[in-house]
Amino acid sequence: MSAERTAPDVVTTTSVAIVGAGPAGLMLAHRLGRSGVDCVNIDVRARAEIETTHRAGILESASAADLLDTGVSDRILRDGDEHAGVELRFGGRSHRIDFQDLVGASVWLYPQTDVFIDLADARDRDGGVVHFGVSGTVVDSVETDSPTVKFTDAAGARHEIRARYVVGADGSHSVCRKLVPEAQRSQFFREYPFAWFGLLVETPKNAPELIYAHSEHGFALVSQRSDTVQRLYFQCDPDESVDAWSDEQIWSTLHDRLSGDDGFELHTGPIIDKSVLRFRSFVQQPMRWGSMLLAGDAAHTVPPTGARGLNLALHDVRVLAPILVRALGAAGDSALDDYEPQALERVWRAQNFSFWMTQMLHNPPAATGFDLQRQLGELSNVVGTRAGRAYLAEQYTGWPSAGGPVG
Ligand code: PHB
Repeated sequence: MSAERTAPDVVTTTSVAIVGAGPAGLMLAHRLGRSGVDCVNIDVRARAEIETTHRAGILESASAADLLDTGVSDRILRDGDEHAGVELRFGGRSHRIDFQDLVGASVWLYPQTDVFIDLADARDRDGGVVHFGVSGTVVDSVETDSPTVKFTDAAGARHEIRARYVVGADGSHSVCRKLVPEAQRSQFFREYPFAWFGLLVETPKNAPELIYAHSEHGFALVSQRSDTVQRLYFQCDPDESVDAWSDEQIWSTLHDRLSGDDGFELHTGPIIDKSVLRFRSFVQQPMRWGSMLLAGDAAHTVPPTGARGLNLALHDVRVLAPILVRALGAAGDSALDDYEPQALERVWRAQNFSFWMTQMLHNPPAATGFDLQRQLGELSNVVGTRAGRAYLAEQYTGWPSAGGPVG
């Protein structure tokens, strides 16, 4: 190819090129913008696609504070719901874990799609540059102090961004994390022999808070979206096809996993969305390579059972933003050394919690009677003592941040 054909149509010079415009990438851009640092986000997905991809819905209060205290939006106060606890359901009965009483904290039911909409709107409002729907992304020279990001925008124009730092916030299929040479990176992961069948249904709320249910037939989760739309999940085979399930089968599966002596019954109604969500536990280290840093799902993913994924991503950028500001100032690259130690401790705590909740509540394909009874013993240990309940409450509502004040 000749030099003319490969020359970009648009060259942009900026301080931080952010690959990814999901919640982690956009929250980082928002924080950098507040500190007077210029940046550009790109994402392969169209904005409408991100807005309509259903993800988890629980924000710990530090994540809610990220939206409120940094001026993203206060919509969560109107459209979100504060939950002061969750229910663990097993042996046909529900047991409430009272977060407020146990650890003085709550969480917010506010779907990730709404977090994304608020952040994308805030970027528009604040004049941030975000290219959605890009293709052909190539990140180069991350081992130098002038990395580049080349891509073609949705209208077909070829771009080159020349940056001082690149942040890979490009999700669980990250291209950025592959730039850490194989010999230099460690990838830790665990696959699970089950997935979640996720549903959106048009019914009234089933309970004031979330219900995480263990049963001999497998796991189920009763969550919410609004007064008229609810989010339900049940454990299924990872290779399950949504089309193979009739509505009757879906409702009877949920019934079997949630029914009990207390007469609890789900509301039934039209099913408006179905999908199978596969998941795994994953961490890649290091989280920095030369001038590139990884944040959010690009560096780590967790099973959804502990509702940690989005919260962990927001924590990464809470830590990373002030470090990048220092690195771009007098401190230089040495400021970056603080990122991984501050981010990673929480990553592994969240990995443990998500793994723990997952193995406690799901029914592995080859589970024996012993396995099921042992899980019931574990659940009784959790709900049966204040220390057990407080342990769950502390992890579910989030740990104190290593990132210092919100900014
Ligand atoms: C959800 O509402 O989508 C949700 C809630 C809690 C979880 C996972 C997903 O642990």
